[in-house]
Amino acid sequence: MSFDVAIIGAGPGGYVAAIRCAQLGMRVALIEKESTLGGTCLNVGCIPSKALLDSSEHFHAAVEKFADHGIKINVPKVDMPQMIKRKDEVVDVTVKGIDYLMKKNKIEVIQGHGSFVDSTTLKVGDQEIKAKNIIIATGSEPICPPSFNYDGKRVITSTEALNITKVPKKMVVIGAGVIGLELGSVYARLGTAVEVVEFQKHILGEMDTDVSKEMRRSLKKLGIKFHLSHKVTTVNSTKTKVSVEVEKKDGGDGFTIDADFCLVAIGRKAYTDGLALDKVGIPSDDKGRIDINGHFQTNLPNVYAIGDVVKGPMLAHKAEEEGVYVAEYLAGQKPHINHHLIPGVVYTWPEVASVGSTEEALKEKGTPYKVGKFPMKALGRSRASMDTEGVIKVLAHKDTDEILGVHMVGARAADLIMEAVALMEFRGSAEDMSRICHPHPTYSEAVKEAALAATGNRAIHI
Ligand code: FAD
Ligand code: NAI
Repeated sequence: MSFDVAIIGAGPGGYVAAIRCAQLGMRVALIEKESTLGGTCLNVGCIPSKALLDSSEHFHAAVEKFADHGIKINVPKVDMPQMIKRKDEVVDVTVKGIDYLMKKNKIEVIQGHGSFVDSTTLKVGDQEIKAKNIIIATGSEPICPPSFNYDGKRVITSTEALNITKVPKKMVVIGAGVIGLELGSVYARLGTAVEVVEFQKHILGEMDTDVSKEMRRSLKKLGIKFHLSHKVTTVNSTKTKVSVEVEKKDGGDGFTIDADFCLVAIGRKAYTDGLALDKVGIPSDDKGRIDINGHFQTNLPNVYAIGDVVKGPMLAHKAEEEGVYVAEYLAGQKPHINHHLIPGVVYTWPEVASVGSTEEALKEKGTPYKVGKFPMKALGRSRASMDTEGVIKVLAHKDTDEILGVHMVGARAADLIMEAVALMEFRGSAEDMSRICHPHPTYSEAVKEAALAATGNRAIHI
C-alpha cells in the first residue's frame, strides 16, 4: 500500500493531521495500535475525565448548594457504576465520531503497531506501508518510578482512576499538577478523603503563583489536604490497601499515609516504544521527546513529529494545531502557530485558566509590567449563582500596555480565557480589553474589571 502521508497514532494530533491532509487532497493512512481512535484524549484523558468532573460537580452541588437555592431533595447518593457507565457512553459516542470523520475524509485506517523499516516504509503487523511523508503522533504515557510499585489495582495512574466503581474512603494523590487536582477533585466531591503530596511548594507549579494560592484555598475548602514540599519515597500495596511513605523534600522525619488507592500523577513522558527510531536514526532529546525543527521536521526531512511526543505542553489543542500545521506545510502553505499563546485550563471548580506570561516569568525576564486584579466575589453574576470564589489577573506591559498574560480562577474560566487569547493574538492592550462592552450580568465582566484595574485603577465595582 502506498500513500502521500502515513500518520502513526490516532490521538488529537494524528487524527486532526489526517483530516487536514485529506482536505488538502493527500492520500492518507492513519495507523493506530488500539482498537479505538482518539488516543489518550478521547479514550482515557480529556473526555472521560471531564465526564466524571461534571457528574461529581452535579453531586457536590446537590449536597452543598441545593438547600441554599431553595431546592429540597432527599440526601443524594452516588451510583458509581452508573457514573462510570455514562462516562463510557460519552467516550464511545465520541470515538465513533472519529470513525465517521475518517470514512467521510476517505482516510485509510490501519489497526496495529507501526514501526519504521526505512524513511519511507512502515511495518504494521505483516503489512508494509509506503509513504512519501510520515508523521509521528504517538503521544505520551504516565511516569511511574519503580519505587511506587505500580500495580494498576491499588497503585494507579489516571487511566485506572477513571474506572473505580466504588467511592474510595481514602486516596493519596502524588503530584498537585493538572491530573492530581482534576481527579483529586472528582473523588473529594464524591466523599473520598483526598491527601495530595507535592514536591514543590505550590500546587500547579507552572502557573501564576496568585492562581495557585487561590486554587489551593478553594480545594482546601473542598476538603483536600495538601503536603507541599514533600516527596513520596515508596508506595507499597496489598490487595485492599496502600501505604505511602512520605518525607519532607529536603529530608527529615517521614510519615506514612494509609489509603485505599494511591494515584500517581507526577507527569507524562513521550511514548516512542517499538517505533524502531534507531533503525532510521531519528534522535530524541534528554526527556525522550523526538527532536524537531521549527516545522516539526525530524532530522529526516520527510518525517515529522507532533503532539505529546515532542516538546511543549502536553495538551490536546496544542497537538491539534501542530497536526494542522504539518498538513498545511506539506501542501506548500505557510502555516503559523503561536506557542506562547496556547491556553492552559484546569477543569476543577472553580476552573483555572491561563495564557501568556506569569508574573514570576515577567519578573525573571526583567520586563516592566503592571497588574490588575478583580475578585469574582465582587461580581453580581457570581453572587447570583453562588460561585464567588476566584480572581482574574491581567498583566500588561508597563509602557506599551500590551497584554502579556491573563490568569484566572473562577466559574467558567475555561471559556473566559478565550477573550484574552484572541486579544493577545492581535497584540491587544489592557485598554482595548477594558473598553470592549461586556454583557451584564456575566462572569466576563470580571475580565473587563481586571483590565480596568490594570490601566490605572479604573475598576468600577471594587
Ligand atoms: P495521544 O492522544 O496520546 O495519541 C497517541 C496515539 O498513538 C495513541 O492512540 C496510541 O495508542 C497511538 N500509538 C502510539 N504508538 C503507536 C505505534 N507505534 N503504532 C500505532 N499507534 C501508536 N489535554 C487537554 O488539552 N485538555 C484536557 O482536558 C486534558 N485532560 C487530560 C486528562 C487526562 C487524565 C490525561 C491523561 C491527559 C489529558 N490531556 C488533556 C492531555 C491530552 O490527552 C494529550 O495532550 C493529547 O491526547 C495528546 O495528543 P497526541 O495526539 O499527541 O497523543
Ligand atoms: P503535571 O506535570 O501537571 O504535574 C505533576 C506534578 O507532580 C508537579 O507539580 C510535580 O512537581 C509533581 N511531582 C513530580 N514528582 C513528584 C514526586 N516524586 N513527589 C511529589 N510530587 C511530584 O503532570 P500530570 O498532572 O501528571 O499531568 C500530565 C500531563 O497531562 C500534563 O502535562 C498536562 O498537560 C496533561 N493534562 C492536561 C489536562 C488539562 O489540560 N486540563 C488535564 C490532565 C492532564
